[in-house]
Amino acid sequence: METVDLRLENAKIPYRGSLVSGGVAIADGKLVAIRKGPLLPNADVKIDLRGMLLLPGVIDAHVHFRDPGLTWKEDFASGSMAAAAGGVTTVCDMPNCIPRTNSLKRFTEKVEIAGKKSYVDFALHAALPKTKEEGIKLMKTGAASFGEVFTYSEGDAAIRNFLDLGLTISVHAEDPRVLERFKSNGNGIEEFIRSRPREAEISEISRLLPLAENAHIHICHVTTSESVDLIRRGKKQKNKVTCEVTPHHLLLSLTHLRRLGPYAHVLPPLRSPADGSDLLRALRDGTIDIVSSDHAPHTAEEKEKGQANLFEAPPGVVGVETSLPLMLTLVRKGKLSLFRLIEAMCTSPAKIFGLRNESGVPKGTLEIGGDADLVVVDQKKKWKLKGKELHGKTKFTPFEGREVIGMPTMTFVRGKKVFEEGEIVGKRGYGKFIPRSS
Ligand code: NCD
Repeated sequence: METVDLRLENAKIPYRGSLVSGGVAIADGKLVAIRKGPLLPNADVKIDLRGMLLLPGVIDAHVHFRDPGLTWKEDFASGSMAAAAGGVTTVCDMPNCIPRTNSLKRFTEKVEIAGKKSYVDFALHAALPKTKEEGIKLMKTGAASFGEVFTYSEGDAAIRNFLDLGLTISVHAEDPRVLERFKSNGNGIEEFIRSRPREAEISEISRLLPLAENAHIHICHVTTSESVDLIRRGKKQKNKVTCEVTPHHLLLSLTHLRRLGPYAHVLPPLRSPADGSDLLRALRDGTIDIVSSDHAPHTAEEKEKGQANLFEAPPGVVGVETSLPLMLTLVRKGKLSLFRLIEAMCTSPAKIFGLRNESGVPKGTLEIGGDADLVVVDQKKKWKLKGKELHGKTKFTPFEGREVIGMPTMTFVRGKKVFEEGEIVGKRGYGKFIPRSS
């Protein structure tokens, strides 16, 4: 029998719809065998996973790695180290860096920057360009979607011009008209909460759904019960709509914003625990397609400005490294099935944004011929999330001190180990650009 490069054996793997003891074999960065039981091809290197869980690597479809132009907050090296440590093997980066990624030239420059720095594979979303011609070029070069479009600052006329191109449009849904009505001159947390009402999101989603009759609209980070009701109805009417939820909107609430102030300040804002439960139900039943982190780093100095006046703090919390343990904890507690987690964090993000390897095999699955993007999880390990242990530039998290069950212990990108037991062992610049291919 042929000898392959690497064999990961004695693991628990998802296999034909159930979790079985087995392993995988890898040659040239690709999966060449996925087997139940101990029978695997001979390999140069064998790793005994001692019953640990072996899953497809997570695909985080919404991160802000701030590169270029805002690299004191994060850059592609630091952000992708955090990703590797969180079991994330492909990230889709957002274009609100400086300059914004809204032309072919800037997109190509960003591919180059990320290509020199990233530890994990990456796809890139593109900001809406000035012209349709430029939009077509961005599509052809493999932009994952147009977005995240901030209709509250960019207006929505722009979206309408790009609907017929056929590329997904990802939208941060807060209706500028509603925000204008609730605009505040105050500065306290309560005033902030009043100024960012749930009605803004609900109204924006109602306006977006008719657009999804013909074009694919992806709604970023949904936060309210009414939002998922609307999307559920839209999907029943065969609208081409997909959406995502973040772990912070699932698991945190206004109580955290009141307690942590700027450190839990994010847009759309945190909501009520009842919203969190409805979001989780919608994630379970598939109304919410995927989990993304909306990893949005800012420095402590920037956040501190919000202590006196929350409106002065930049919104956003980090999450690329903590998503998987937080979601695995829900699995452990019986609130989400492991298979739904795999779909929402691995398989579906790849499908929605057309991420495949060069042979056309989708990312985010355990499939022969697919990239060996994998995460090993110690599923019983209880531990506490701590900001100072994170691998990105931000050393604080709104989940500080939270007990989680399930720890990523090894991450492989195309068969190369990039993270092991708390340490980054991969190479800067190893990560590859994954153009959208469908
Ligand atoms: C994001 C950021 O900082 O780029 N902030 C946030 O609060 N979520 C932007 C965004 O996704 O809305």
